[in-house]
Amino acid sequence: MLLIKQAPDIKNSEVTDKEFFEQRRQFLQTAATAVAATVVAPGLLVPGTADAGEKLQNVRKTAYQLDEKLTKYKDITSYNNFYEFGTDKRSPAKLAHKMKTRPWTITVEGEVAKPGVYDIDDFIKPHALEERVYRLRCVEAWSMIVPWVGFPLADVIKRFEPNSRAKYVQFVTLYNPEQMPGQVKGLFGGGLDWPYVEGLRMDEAMHPLTIFVVGLYGEVLPNQNGAPIRLVVPWKYGFKSIKSIVKMRFVEQQPPTTWNKAGPREYGFYSNVNPKVNHPRWSQSHERRIGEDNLFSPKRPTPMFNGYADQVASLYAGMDLKKNY
Ligand code: MTE
Repeated sequence: MLLIKQAPDIKNSEVTDKEFFEQRRQFLQTAATAVAATVVAPGLLVPGTADAGEKLQNVRKTAYQLDEKLTKYKDITSYNNFYEFGTDKRSPAKLAHKMKTRPWTITVEGEVAKPGVYDIDDFIKPHALEERVYRLRCVEAWSMIVPWVGFPLADVIKRFEPNSRAKYVQFVTLYNPEQMPGQVKGLFGGGLDWPYVEGLRMDEAMHPLTIFVVGLYGEVLPNQNGAPIRLVVPWKYGFKSIKSIVKMRFVEQQPPTTWNKAGPREYGFYSNVNPKVNHPRWSQSHERRIGEDNLFSPKRPTPMFNGYADQVASLYAGMDLKKNY
């Protein structure tokens, strides 16, 4: 997400060293085998020990597959937007280990019958984990194909029984400047207003494509990708897919969102992918695939609703998608 710079170019020199990642994976696999012997819960691993890279148990494969090459693990985990750890794409992978993902609670509040503060492992436990391959497309005109692990947001929402005044759900990221250096006042975090907030209309939140994510490539989500739990809304720009969530608030009025507050001319509430509506400073018609395309590759055309038009276009019937971009 950019407020003043042009869409960034991805240099080969920015790609993290493969050998380092192989060694790291080897180490984590050995550690995971040791932990796996004591696994009991159907959802995550043993509560309190869910470290990035540990293998998730009982992950069901689904029909959510794409006819495209998966983006490599090292690219998904080393080229990130997570402004709480700096605006540079390489900073989150270097700094996000400072964030403690246990203990962690999620507060559910607002227009619901069952508000409360839930321990993350209790929050996840009732849900069967499934793998879904989705596209993530950032407004900066790059994309990835990611095998996320998670469960439908709709199932979580039903558990808390929202009332008829609940028209939107707002999500809030952890606020902890000691662990998140980008939240310390200054430009390292892009000068955003913290904590990071996002929101969905209730029908978007209840849509079967919308998921809470706790892992990728069958493993516990790395911190830089939004551990311990993030949202993934595949037909929207990446920035709707808020990371490291600590609060869900059910509200009657459309809630404020971080990028809309930071640049109202550039970022609307809806953020639907519409390749025909340019960002004020660059085109949205094409994109570059992380890890595959370089500066000289022909750009790939971006499909309407990021390729999910058949499933979601009806949610916006009658709305002017040039205004509600
Ligand atoms: N969530 C928080 N809390 N902070 C952020 O800066 N960036 C968003 C989104 N969620 C962001 C966030 C943007 S702009 C994108 S493109 C995606 O996360 C990137 O997700 P990834 O790093 O897993 O690819």
